[in-house]
Amino acid sequence: MPRLAVGVSGTGTLLEAMIARKLEISFVFADRQCRGYDIAREHGIACLMLPHLVFTASFDRDQYTRYVNYVLDERDIDVFAMAGFMTVLAPLMFEGRYRGRVLNTHPSLLPKFKGAHAVRDAFNAGEQVSGCTIHVATEELDSGEILAQARVARRDDDTVESWHERIKVAERALYPRIIESFMLTRL
Ligand code: GRF
Repeated sequence: MPRLAVGVSGTGTLLEAMIARKLEISFVFADRQCRGYDIAREHGIACLMLPHLVFTASFDRDQYTRYVNYVLDERDIDVFAMAGFMTVLAPLMFEGRYRGRVLNTHPSLLPKFKGAHAVRDAFNAGEQVSGCTIHVATEELDSGEILAQARVARRDDDTVESWHERIKVAERALYPRIIESFMLTRL
């Protein structure tokens, strides 16, 4: 059975959805103290935190990524699914052993609205429909092969936050299912 690791930085509702679908999660990795990390601990999943403390140009992205690679390798991980993991990893993450094996979900219909503020950007652009994209992650941010998308319409009374919450509902329904089929058919 391939071994799955999940990366979290936030509220961890995607991780909860994976647990609810009974995906076998071998390891959870967090870049900061967050609810996602606590959820992993509560469920008895092996987990580790490597804090991303420096948010300036002096952040050593290569070194951080080498560490991520090392801890995944050490645990014999086959697939790394980012689930709201907010540290951009260096290109070396997407080469070698993990080439084509890092997955991500992004709250927009890629290739539209890449980046950390996708829902806000779609909202401000006046889009009436956005959604989520499950994709293979590559060194280019929010790019790579698209595995699935779901559309979520904006309501008249939506705020950025309420729209994002409904997009997250779609992500929670889609991402665990896509990870499962990726592990069964693509490794
Ligand atoms: C999701 O919308 C994901 O696409 C984005 O962050 C959110 C993660 O939510 N990058 P959670 O931490 O799993 O609740």
